[in-house]
Amino acid sequence: MDCAWVRLPRFRTKLIPLVLGAGIFTWFIYSLSGPPLEGPFAHRNKPGYRPSPRLRPYPPPLAHTVWNSRAEQVKEAFVHAYRGYQQHAASSDELLPITNTSSNHFNGWGLQLIDALDTMWIMGLRDDFQDAMPLVAAMTFHLPDTEYAPFFETVIRYLGGLLSAHALSGEPALLARADDLGKMLLPVFKTPHGLPMYAVNTVTGATRAGWSSEVLWAEALSCQLEYKYLAHLTGRQEYFDHVEHIIDIMQAAKIKDGMFPTKWNMQSGKPSNDQFSVGAFADSAHEYLLKQWLLTSRSETKAMKLYLKAASGILNHLLYLTPNRQLLYVTDTSGTNATPSHTFEHLSCFLPGLLALGAHTLPLSEDDKELHNWAAQGLAYTCWITYADHATGLGPDEMLMEDWDDDPTGANGRWIDHVKQWKREGSPGGVPPGLREVQTRKHTERDYNASKGGYFLRPESVESFYLLWRLTRDETWRERGWAVFESIEREAKTPSGYASLSSVEISPAHKKNEMPSFFMAETLKYLYLLFREEDVIPLNQWVFNTEAHPLPIFQWMDWERERYRIP
Ligand SMILES: *[C@@H]1O[C@H](CO)[C@@H](O)[C@H](O)[C@H]1NC(C)=O
Ligand SMILES: *[C@@H]1O[C@H](CO)[C@@H](O)[C@H](O)[C@H]1NC(C)=O
Repeated sequence: MDCAWVRLPRFRTKLIPLVLGAGIFTWFIYSLSGPPLEGPFAHRNKPGYRPSPRLRPYPPPLAHTVWNSRAEQVKEAFVHAYRGYQQHAASSDELLPITNTSSNHFNGWGLQLIDALDTMWIMGLRDDFQDAMPLVAAMTFHLPDTEYAPFFETVIRYLGGLLSAHALSGEPALLARADDLGKMLLPVFKTPHGLPMYAVNTVTGATRAGWSSEVLWAEALSCQLEYKYLAHLTGRQEYFDHVEHIIDIMQAAKIKDGMFPTKWNMQSGKPSNDQFSVGAFADSAHEYLLKQWLLTSRSETKAMKLYLKAASGILNHLLYLTPNRQLLYVTDTSGTNATPSHTFEHLSCFLPGLLALGAHTLPLSEDDKELHNWAAQGLAYTCWITYADHATGLGPDEMLMEDWDDDPTGANGRWIDHVKQWKREGSPGGVPPGLREVQTRKHTERDYNASKGGYFLRPESVESFYLLWRLTRDETWRERGWAVFESIEREAKTPSGYASLSSVEISPAHKKNEMPSFFMAETLKYLYLLFREEDVIPLNQWVFNTEAHPLPIFQWMDWERERYRIP
């Protein structure tokens, strides 16, 4: 019998060298992007995401040796901070990097160590990782009778840190400790509607409320990634049931326009204010809705639909432009008319990364996908400008953005209205409102003032730069990240670590005696991943929790789907 390929018509045979040539060319281009992944990540060498449409030409890439050497410098910064912690604060929660002393504000179980374990692994600091294991294996999570572990912080930092370090290294002791801790925190759910109490004593199981008797939206919805993954690893149903119940409460809540309020009543299980935000009280709730769906191989459409609802609330109500430079920012609103406060928090700079992740993964219409992508790019750009505008090269913690006195659209700067008008006018210039690049400005000429002028080594901006770079391959985000890292080195370094700054306006900056644990857990991890050429933590295989602890995407087993009623 003839082989089919021998009888190919002439024009098809001519195609063969062409196809081969294209293949070799693609391989060549691919090989330029750096060597393939090594070691434990070799099997994760899968194609990435489709790039989104470009609004301007991307800068030419630098040689990968340049980027890898920048990644090495971030690793050196991590080692510097970690040695300082080991020398002056070992087994305490956080190093105080000016006095060389330590603080214990997070249960006193050695927070900085647990929070930094996965960063160590990712950076290849395997000896330090191994040295830490006996300490971690011996952890009991003990607390005196009078002290309480804050549920939210303990979950995202300790539980997330242990689970991520376990997923990366396979060390069984890490899972055993995560299971201990997961169990000790469960009493928080013994409330009328199952919304979590603020804090719990890990020995007695006694719980207590926070400064308010209400539950913050972020606190109710930032435990699902950790507990669902733990349920999958241990087979313990209570882990799943408690956290899924909160999703059910959110699904049943009567919410207008996707605007989930920031506070919920413990007694009634219903909203208790009319504030809508992506800042401190709400931030990671948005994140966990999308990420639960991603973590469980897109099986939990309930969470995904809640994300879509909340995201459309954000796009329609929380995004504004400043009148002069047309900087796009996200604020919070209150009241039935959704009156904006025009406050813009550094914390909210995680949002562009999240929107971009959603735009690349969600089943959106082309128009919606474009809208999510535009919002992501414009917001991340403003986050960058707030850094670039300041003498230290670092951005303030909170800003009050300028209002429109006399907005011809009557929308008072609301972004969605400007986008609609721009489309009606035939998209002049091709660049949507809020995405045009602008000049940096001095103090008196900016279209915002800092209401909190300090820089606390926070990760959100570089987190978004990392996600945008991975998803769009626009090297500009890496350049901006590099500028941020250089500023941190110049302004924040102390002989034993890195310090928060009192004000971003004056360089050299005045340093504060604190180095929050998220600096090593998140800021340095995202910077390292931004510069590393190899895709060490591919976004189609890992999901970062809100403390930057990557958890591996998994599939529920058939029996789990049945037990947890996952369609
Ligand atoms: C910022 O401060 C300047 C000077 O104090 C003031 O003129 C301006 O209105 C302020 N802008 C905002 C947005 O508060
Ligand atoms: C803190 O420790 C570092 C070494 O880790 C040392 O160089 C520095 O002088 C110390 N600072 C103080 C205030 O003791």
